[in-house]
Amino acid sequence: MIVHFNDKYIPHDEVKISPFDRAFLFADGVYEALRTYNGKLFRLDDHLGRLKYSLQELEISFKDFDQIENIFKKLAEINNIKTDYSVYLQLSRGISFPRTHNYEGNLTPNLFAFAKPIKDNSKEKTNGVKVILEKDLRWLRCDIKSTSLLPSIMVNQNAIRNNAFEAILFRDDFITEGSHTNFFAVKNNAVFTAPLSNYILSGVTRKVVLELCRKNKIDFSEEYIKVNDIKTFDEFFITGTTTEITPVIQIDDWIVGNGMPGNVTLKIQELFFNVTKQV
Ligand code: PDD
Repeated sequence: MIVHFNDKYIPHDEVKISPFDRAFLFADGVYEALRTYNGKLFRLDDHLGRLKYSLQELEISFKDFDQIENIFKKLAEINNIKTDYSVYLQLSRGISFPRTHNYEGNLTPNLFAFAKPIKDNSKEKTNGVKVILEKDLRWLRCDIKSTSLLPSIMVNQNAIRNNAFEAILFRDDFITEGSHTNFFAVKNNAVFTAPLSNYILSGVTRKVVLELCRKNKIDFSEEYIKVNDIKTFDEFFITGTTTEITPVIQIDDWIVGNGMPGNVTLKIQELFFNVTKQV
């Protein structure tokens, strides 16, 4: 695979970076993950807006946002990707020597990006998936898309170990989001999801879903779903750039409803596919 690293396009196994890069030492960096539909980057401005926000909150100085779209296109071209693809972009704060917790304001971020064809997950989207509930072990700035992901990795690994697709996280008595998705519940045809705060990532797919609810007169509320109330809901789904709208049909040992994707979930899935078809 040819990847992008600081203005160069090079084979992935030839990239060299100092171990004093702060992302290596401290996970001091941010990232974004996007995808294309019909070859076009979906909601690029939303992703760039979130990237700017993450950088600003961490005081990482990077200005060259105009080059990003071209990097993604060039990666697809150079790797001869003919299908839709996802892209990953990471910016570290840069290299500082010797290792100190505090940082200087004048470091140069290291930019790394790669593209790969979208893997087919239509089975999950059609049949629905199992999720497990896990304690949210993450920090209190989940609104920043930081590369510091150990708690997410641990719970996601646990999900896979338990034949589940995703771990859904709870803090105290309320559900925040998934390890790499936003979480939605449906009760009496109304949609519920956690409000934007420092406890969740402001998902781009989440935003599209709420826009679709508004436009199509589907009731929705940004309020926390309590763990103890979970069995009072009729349907669940998770959202994310590559997860899109994926129905949840099992939570731990509990089979939701009749074990099939719910009607409101299917409706939102259809509305979402209509949007992505037209980009
Ligand atoms: N994950 N919540 C978390 C914690 C996430 O990491 C993600 C995205 C989402 C969904 O956001 P969006 O709809 O903008 O993709 C919610 C990406 C895909 C990842 O970690 O690779």
